[in-house]
Amino acid sequence: QSSPAMRLSLLKWYRGVHDARGMPWRKPYDPLLGRADRAQRAYEVWISEIMLQQTQVVTVIPYYNRWIEKFPTICHLAAATLDEVNAIWKGLGYYSRARRLLEGAQKAVKDFSGRLPDNAKDLESHIPGIGRYSAGAISSIAYGERVPVLDGNVHRLLSRVLALHANPKAKGTLDILWAAAAAMVESQDHTPLIQDGNQPQYAGDINQALIELGSTVCKVRDPDCGSCPLQSWCSAFRISGTSDKQTPSTL
Ligand code: ADE
Repeated sequence: QSSPAMRLSLLKWYRGVHDARGMPWRKPYDPLLGRADRAQRAYEVWISEIMLQQTQVVTVIPYYNRWIEKFPTICHLAAATLDEVNAIWKGLGYYSRARRLLEGAQKAVKDFSGRLPDNAKDLESHIPGIGRYSAGAISSIAYGERVPVLDGNVHRLLSRVLALHANPKAKGTLDILWAAAAAMVESQDHTPLIQDGNQPQYAGDINQALIELGSTVCKVRDPDCGSCPLQSWCSAFRISGTSDKQTPSTL
Protein backbone atom coordinates (compact mmCIF):
# COMPACT_ATOMS: atom_id res chain seq x y z
CA GLN A 1 0.00 0.00 0.00
CA SER A 2 2.79 2.43 0.69
CA SER A 3 5.21 3.68 -1.91
CA PRO A 4 8.44 5.65 -1.64
CA ALA A 5 6.62 8.64 -3.18
CA MET A 6 3.89 8.44 -0.57
CA ARG A 7 6.42 8.41 2.27
CA LEU A 8 8.35 11.25 0.68
CA SER A 9 5.22 13.40 0.46
CA LEU A 10 4.37 12.63 4.08
CA LEU A 11 7.88 13.43 5.33
CA LYS A 12 8.12 16.65 3.33
CA TRP A 13 4.94 17.79 5.01
CA TYR A 14 6.22 16.71 8.43
CA ARG A 15 9.48 18.66 8.03
CA GLY A 16 7.40 21.81 7.72
CA VAL A 17 5.28 21.18 10.80
CA HIS A 18 7.20 19.01 13.24
CA ASP A 19 8.37 21.81 15.51
CA ALA A 20 5.29 24.01 15.19
CA ARG A 21 3.90 23.08 18.59
CA GLY A 22 7.21 23.16 20.43
CA MET A 23 7.17 19.64 21.83
CA PRO A 24 10.27 19.35 24.03
CA TRP A 25 10.51 15.56 23.63
CA ARG A 26 10.86 15.86 19.86
CA LYS A 27 14.46 15.88 18.71
CA PRO A 28 15.84 14.98 15.30
CA TYR A 29 16.72 11.31 15.05
CA ASP A 30 20.50 10.87 15.10
CA PRO A 31 21.67 7.47 13.83
CA LEU A 32 25.15 8.07 15.25
CA LEU A 33 24.05 8.45 18.85
CA GLY A 34 25.72 6.06 21.29
CA ARG A 35 23.92 3.44 23.33
CA ALA A 36 23.51 5.52 26.48
CA ASP A 37 22.21 8.56 24.60
CA ARG A 38 19.66 6.45 22.73
CA ALA A 39 18.44 4.94 25.97
CA GLN A 40 18.08 8.45 27.38
CA ARG A 41 16.01 9.40 24.32
CA ALA A 42 13.90 6.28 24.91
CA TYR A 43 13.26 7.43 28.48
CA GLU A 44 12.13 10.87 27.28
CA VAL A 45 9.91 9.47 24.53
CA TRP A 46 8.43 6.95 26.98
CA ILE A 47 7.44 9.68 29.45
CA SER A 48 5.93 11.81 26.68
CA GLU A 49 4.00 8.95 25.08
CA ILE A 50 2.48 7.82 28.37
CA MET A 51 1.50 11.40 29.23
CA LEU A 52 0.00 11.87 25.74
CA GLN A 53 -2.18 8.77 26.04
CA GLN A 54 -5.17 10.56 27.47
CA THR A 55 -4.00 14.16 27.40
CA GLN A 56 -3.50 16.81 24.73
CA VAL A 57 -0.12 18.08 23.60
CA VAL A 58 -0.54 21.62 25.00
CA THR A 59 -1.45 20.27 28.42
CA VAL A 60 1.36 17.73 28.46
CA ILE A 61 4.23 20.12 27.66
CA PRO A 62 4.55 21.80 31.10
CA TYR A 63 4.03 18.46 32.89
CA TYR A 64 6.70 16.85 30.78
CA ASN A 65 9.16 19.67 31.51
CA ARG A 66 8.56 19.48 35.27
CA TRP A 67 8.89 15.70 35.19
CA ILE A 68 12.23 15.77 33.35
CA GLU A 69 13.52 18.45 35.71
CA LYS A 70 12.60 16.33 38.73
CA PHE A 71 13.52 12.93 37.24
CA PRO A 72 16.12 13.67 34.55
CA THR A 73 17.04 10.02 34.01
CA ILE A 74 15.40 6.65 34.45
CA CYS A 75 17.65 6.05 37.47
CA HIS A 76 16.35 9.20 39.17
CA LEU A 77 12.82 7.97 38.53
CA ALA A 78 13.54 4.47 39.81
CA ALA A 79 14.79 5.94 43.09
CA ALA A 80 11.66 8.06 43.63
CA THR A 81 8.72 7.27 45.89
CA LEU A 82 5.17 6.89 44.61
CA ASP A 83 4.24 10.09 46.48
CA GLU A 84 6.93 12.08 44.69
CA VAL A 85 5.82 10.72 41.34
CA ASN A 86 2.15 11.43 42.03
CA ALA A 87 2.99 14.98 43.11
CA ILE A 88 4.50 15.74 39.69
CA TRP A 89 1.65 13.92 37.94
CA LYS A 90 -1.02 15.78 39.94
CA GLY A 91 -3.68 17.16 37.60
CA LEU A 92 -3.03 14.83 34.66
CA GLY A 93 -5.47 12.16 35.86
CA TYR A 94 -5.34 8.41 35.39
CA TYR A 95 -2.75 8.04 38.16
CA SER A 96 -2.12 4.40 37.32
CA ARG A 97 -0.04 5.73 34.42
CA ALA A 98 2.34 7.40 36.87
CA ARG A 99 2.59 4.31 39.04
CA ARG A 100 3.41 2.15 36.02
CA LEU A 101 6.12 4.60 34.95
CA LEU A 102 7.72 4.17 38.38
CA GLU A 103 7.40 0.39 38.21
CA GLY A 104 8.76 0.37 34.67
CA ALA A 105 11.79 2.44 35.70
CA GLN A 106 12.48 0.11 38.62
CA LYS A 107 12.25 -2.90 36.34
CA ALA A 108 14.58 -1.29 33.76
CA VAL A 109 17.15 -0.57 36.47
CA LYS A 110 16.90 -4.02 37.99
CA ASP A 111 16.76 -6.15 34.82
CA PHE A 112 18.14 -4.01 31.98
CA SER A 113 21.04 -2.02 33.50
CA GLY A 114 18.94 1.14 33.59
CA ARG A 115 18.29 1.17 29.85
CA LEU A 116 14.88 0.65 28.32
CA PRO A 117 14.99 -2.35 25.94
CA ASP A 118 15.95 -1.29 22.41
CA ASN A 119 13.18 -3.09 20.53
CA ALA A 120 9.41 -3.02 20.56
CA LYS A 121 8.97 -6.69 21.40
CA ASP A 122 10.99 -6.51 24.63
CA LEU A 123 9.52 -3.14 25.60
CA GLU A 124 6.01 -4.54 25.34
CA SER A 125 6.74 -7.80 27.12
CA HIS A 126 8.96 -6.51 29.94
CA ILE A 127 7.97 -2.95 30.86
CA PRO A 128 4.69 -2.37 32.73
CA GLY A 129 2.26 0.02 31.03
CA ILE A 130 3.87 -0.29 27.59
CA GLY A 131 1.49 -1.73 25.01
CA ARG A 132 1.94 -2.29 21.32
CA TYR A 133 1.43 1.37 20.42
CA SER A 134 3.86 2.79 23.02
CA ALA A 135 6.43 0.10 22.27
CA GLY A 136 6.34 1.01 18.58
CA ALA A 137 6.55 4.72 19.29
CA ILE A 138 9.48 4.45 21.70
CA SER A 139 11.45 1.98 19.65
CA SER A 140 10.98 3.72 16.31
CA ILE A 141 11.54 7.26 17.60
CA ALA A 142 14.44 6.61 19.99
CA TYR A 143 16.08 3.52 18.51
CA GLY A 144 15.13 3.79 14.83
CA GLU A 145 13.53 0.36 14.73
CA ARG A 146 11.25 -0.06 11.73
CA VAL A 147 8.11 -0.89 13.67
CA PRO A 148 4.67 0.64 13.19
CA VAL A 149 2.38 2.64 15.46
CA LEU A 150 -1.40 2.60 15.42
CA ASP A 151 -3.14 5.01 17.76
CA GLY A 152 -6.62 6.44 17.28
CA ASN A 153 -5.32 9.08 14.89
CA VAL A 154 -3.39 6.68 12.68
CA HIS A 155 -6.32 4.24 12.79
CA ARG A 156 -8.66 6.86 11.37
CA LEU A 157 -6.16 8.11 8.81
CA LEU A 158 -5.32 4.67 7.43
CA SER A 159 -9.00 3.62 7.46
CA ARG A 160 -9.64 6.56 5.17
CA VAL A 161 -6.61 5.96 2.96
CA LEU A 162 -7.83 2.39 2.45
CA ALA A 163 -11.53 3.38 2.41
CA LEU A 164 -12.03 0.56 4.85
CA HIS A 165 -15.64 -0.14 5.70
CA ALA A 166 -15.45 -2.39 8.67
CA ASN A 167 -16.02 -2.56 12.39
CA PRO A 168 -13.15 -0.35 13.62
CA LYS A 169 -12.50 -2.55 16.65
CA ALA A 170 -12.74 -5.99 15.04
CA LYS A 171 -9.55 -8.02 15.07
CA GLY A 172 -9.59 -8.36 11.28
CA THR A 173 -9.77 -4.58 10.90
CA LEU A 174 -6.94 -4.02 13.36
CA ASP A 175 -4.80 -6.62 11.58
CA ILE A 176 -5.29 -4.82 8.26
CA LEU A 177 -4.49 -1.42 9.77
CA TRP A 178 -1.40 -2.63 11.66
CA ALA A 179 -0.20 -4.18 8.40
CA ALA A 180 -0.80 -0.92 6.55
CA ALA A 181 1.07 1.00 9.28
CA ALA A 182 3.91 -1.51 9.05
CA ALA A 183 4.10 -1.06 5.28
CA MET A 184 4.71 2.64 5.85
CA VAL A 185 7.91 2.05 7.83
CA GLU A 186 9.29 -1.12 6.30
CA SER A 187 12.07 -0.99 3.78
CA GLN A 188 12.20 -3.42 0.92
CA ASP A 189 15.93 -3.90 0.99
CA HIS A 190 16.38 -4.08 4.76
CA THR A 191 18.87 -1.25 4.86
CA PRO A 192 18.59 0.83 8.03
CA LEU A 193 17.52 3.89 6.05
CA ILE A 194 15.26 4.26 3.09
CA GLN A 195 16.80 6.79 0.75
CA ASP A 196 14.61 9.03 -1.34
CA GLY A 197 16.01 12.08 -3.02
CA ASN A 198 18.93 11.53 -0.63
CA GLN A 199 16.72 12.19 2.38
CA PRO A 200 16.84 9.46 4.99
CA GLN A 201 13.42 8.18 5.94
CA TYR A 202 13.48 7.25 9.58
CA ALA A 203 10.68 5.08 10.93
CA GLY A 204 10.26 7.38 13.93
CA ASP A 205 9.71 10.37 11.66
CA ILE A 206 7.22 8.47 9.51
CA ASN A 207 5.31 7.38 12.61
CA GLN A 208 5.27 10.84 14.15
CA ALA A 209 4.21 12.29 10.80
CA LEU A 210 1.26 9.87 10.68
CA ILE A 211 0.26 10.69 14.28
CA GLU A 212 0.54 14.42 13.57
CA LEU A 213 -1.33 14.22 10.27
CA GLY A 214 -4.11 12.23 11.88
CA SER A 215 -4.53 14.66 14.76
CA THR A 216 -4.19 17.97 12.88
CA VAL A 217 -5.37 17.37 9.28
CA CYS A 218 -7.20 14.05 9.02
CA LYS A 219 -9.49 15.04 11.88
CA VAL A 220 -12.60 13.21 12.98
CA ARG A 221 -14.81 16.00 11.62
CA ASP A 222 -14.01 18.31 8.70
CA PRO A 223 -10.75 16.73 7.61
CA ASP A 224 -8.62 19.26 5.77
CA CYS A 225 -8.10 17.18 2.62
CA GLY A 226 -6.91 20.22 0.69
CA SER A 227 -3.71 20.37 2.71
CA CYS A 228 -3.15 16.64 3.07
CA PRO A 229 0.12 15.25 1.70
CA LEU A 230 -1.53 11.85 1.24
CA GLN A 231 -4.47 13.07 -0.82
CA SER A 232 -3.24 11.33 -4.00
CA TRP A 233 -3.07 8.02 -2.16
CA CYS A 234 -6.35 8.33 -0.29
CA SER A 235 -9.13 6.03 -1.51
CA ALA A 236 -11.79 7.81 0.53
CA PHE A 237 -10.84 11.10 -1.10
CA ARG A 238 -10.84 9.53 -4.55
CA ILE A 239 -14.32 8.08 -4.00
CA SER A 240 -16.04 11.13 -2.56
CA GLY A 241 -13.81 14.19 -2.75
CA THR A 242 -13.40 14.16 1.01
CA SER A 243 -12.32 11.53 3.44
CA ASP A 244 -15.12 12.55 5.79
CA LYS A 245 -18.04 10.57 4.39
CA GLN A 246 -16.11 7.38 3.99
CA THR A 247 -15.21 6.91 7.56
CA PRO A 248 -16.69 4.19 9.67
CA SER A 249 -14.12 4.88 12.33
CA THR A 250 -14.79 7.68 14.78
CA LEU A 251 -11.85 6.76 16.97
N1 ADE B 1 0.51 11.97 20.53
C1 ADE B 1 1.02 10.81 20.90
N2 ADE B 1 2.30 10.68 20.54
C2 ADE B 1 2.61 11.83 19.90
C3 ADE B 1 3.78 12.32 19.30
N3 ADE B 1 4.90 11.61 19.29
N4 ADE B 1 3.72 13.52 18.73
C4 ADE B 1 2.56 14.23 18.77
N5 ADE B 1 1.45 13.84 19.31
C5 ADE B 1 1.46 12.66 19.89
